Amino acid sequence: MLFNLKGRTAIVTGAGSKRGIGRSIALALAEQGADVVICDMNLEGAKETAAEVASKGVKSLALQCNVIVESEIAAVVKQTVETFGKIDILVNNAGITQPVKVLDMTEADWDRVVDVNMKSTFLCSKAVLPNMIANKYGRIVNMSSVSAKRGGGVFGGAHYSAAKSGILAFGKALSREVAPEGITINAIAPGIVATDIRGGVEDEETQKKMTSDIPCRRMGTPLDVAAAVCFLASTEAGYITGEEIDVNGGSHMD
Ligand SMILES: NC(=O)c1ccc[n+]([C@@H]2O[C@H](COP(=O)([O-])OP(=O)(O)OC[C@H]3O[C@@H](n4cnc5c(N)ncnc54)[C@H](O)[C@@H]3O)[C@@H](O)[C@H]2O)c1
Repeated sequence: MLFNLKGRTAIVTGAGSKRGIGRSIALALAEQGADVVICDMNLEGAKETAAEVASKGVKSLALQCNVIVESEIAAVVKQTVETFGKIDILVNNAGITQPVKVLDMTEADWDRVVDVNMKSTFLCSKAVLPNMIANKYGRIVNMSSVSAKRGGGVFGGAHYSAAKSGILAFGKALSREVAPEGITINAIAPGIVATDIRGGVEDEETQKKMTSDIPCRRMGTPLDVAAAVCFLASTEAGYITGEEIDVNGGSHMD
């Protein structure tokens, strides 16, 4: 069976959101057989995801973690290795956005959005790499956005676009460093996905307006993104690194 993740251990950040991409990724990885550690600032949400993951017949662990606090990330890594023995897959999914124009943006806005999206990707990747290097195997999948490539235009501000673009460049640079160790670093760049990140899932009428110029004529679903993550997280994707997959219904092609 292709893309089988049985025996693999994955950490998914930001996987506590009920209708979020992270939860869908955690469930999809579990369906492929991986044990999954769910981390989120929202512990209740993480526990819900972990219970759903466990119902797929794999092991799961819910941990509270703010992905911009190094000591909290270190605790997640420690607990994961103590429980499962290793870390094979990291999905840097946690993220926030903010609809604000540059002239109205404060320095604190910039720092918060850039840190939660981009600095977290650096901190979490750095934290898992020693274990992956020791095992000569690893898959890191980072969550970028179509905003990285076309300069926002949907909802997020310029800080969000900058952070999501930085994630792509960081991944390319890191992939050169760790590819000889059997570790790949890739990204997904989703278009608009129906989740709560913009403050609630849009109603049908709004979705229609938002998707009128998307070739596939619909918003993405968390599962559209999760399927691409499962592929990049698989053993079979081992010759793909420093790349990104656009999951955007054709709204941006490059
Ligand atoms: N929904 C979209 O249209 C879309 C499009 C492109 C990219 N993305 C990216 O996909 C990822 C998931 O987004 P989503 O739409 O599922 O959002 P969401 O708001 O539903 O979920 C985000 C999760 O991240 C968690 N989180 C936020 N800050 C955190 C922190 N500091 N530490 C730990 N957890 C934290 C939240 O608690 C939440 O559970 C994000 O990186 C987002 O930028 C989303």
